[in-house]
Amino acid sequence: MSPFLLTRTLPLDATDAALRADVLSGLTRHPKTLPPKWFYDAHGSDLFEEITRLAEYYPTRAEREILIAHSADIAAASGARTLIELGSGSSEKTRHLLDALPGLHTYVPVDVSESALKGAAEALLAERPGLSVHALIADFTHALDLPDSPGPRLVAFLGGTLGNLLPQERAEFLKSVRARLVPGDSLLLGTDLVKDEATLVAAYDDAAGVTAAFNKNVLTVVDRELGADFQLDDFDHVAVWDPEHEWIEMRLRSRRAQTVKIRELDLEVSFEEGEELRTEVSAKFRKEGVRDELAAAGLRLAQWWTDSAGRFALSLATAD
Ligand code: AVJ
Repeated sequence: MSPFLLTRTLPLDATDAALRADVLSGLTRHPKTLPPKWFYDAHGSDLFEEITRLAEYYPTRAEREILIAHSADIAAASGARTLIELGSGSSEKTRHLLDALPGLHTYVPVDVSESALKGAAEALLAERPGLSVHALIADFTHALDLPDSPGPRLVAFLGGTLGNLLPQERAEFLKSVRARLVPGDSLLLGTDLVKDEATLVAAYDDAAGVTAAFNKNVLTVVDRELGADFQLDDFDHVAVWDPEHEWIEMRLRSRRAQTVKIRELDLEVSFEEGEELRTEVSAKFRKEGVRDELAAAGLRLAQWWTDSAGRFALSLATAD
């Protein structure tokens, strides 16, 4: 029997329906918005991997530093036999965790990107042939149908992706994670931390323009999937720090007044010159905030680690 299983919990047509619904509601409201999950087609996933290697984009390196320093602590505290990773992407950082978990039986990477999941699973199975890998193509914010696997379970949600959710969505998401855990299970959560504005903005507006290309890629996705005629050159990449909400916003600013046709939705969308479409919120956290949000979901913050520069944090929370 193959130790690798790929399950699509969201059928392709459901993905298509979700994209249609998001584009229709997001582009007919004011201000216009699109959810960040649509960045991640194969090209967008590659661009994100490129972002993680940029000098300005510190979160990936900071989180890796913490994982390397504390994998053994995480393994000891969780005793995990099943590792479920939400938004696993390339699973590159997870390697440190997997190496520290010799008793691990099953790894469940969950991601919206099929290409990222396949690449990750192939690389992993070459290294850990005995490991059972059950990949799920799914949106982590939707109810997860997790495969049967031995406990204790450790759910890892790394990279700071929690910050892509709005506060209300975060509360619901953390509750839904808690609902899938039993006492003895735990959650490993990566969160980027509040810091000076210049460092934050540079991380989302790099000099080489990779983040700009990543941001604009959502327009390519809508053009391809829904027959739209967005021209990438008609939009500018914008990254701004919102000090009130303590989050970064990525936006696409229309360079001119224009009307875009979205054939499959039978929709025409008008942009004024300078009008901005919000494509991502990336919230930054403080320890008290993380502790309180976890507690509100019935999770207890048991351990808190940061990188040596104090830029990023990993929290280990328990379902008591
Ligand atoms: C993958 C969601 C953690 O918010 O920092 C990177 C995505 N956006 N550059 C983040 C992202 C722009 C990233 N996360």
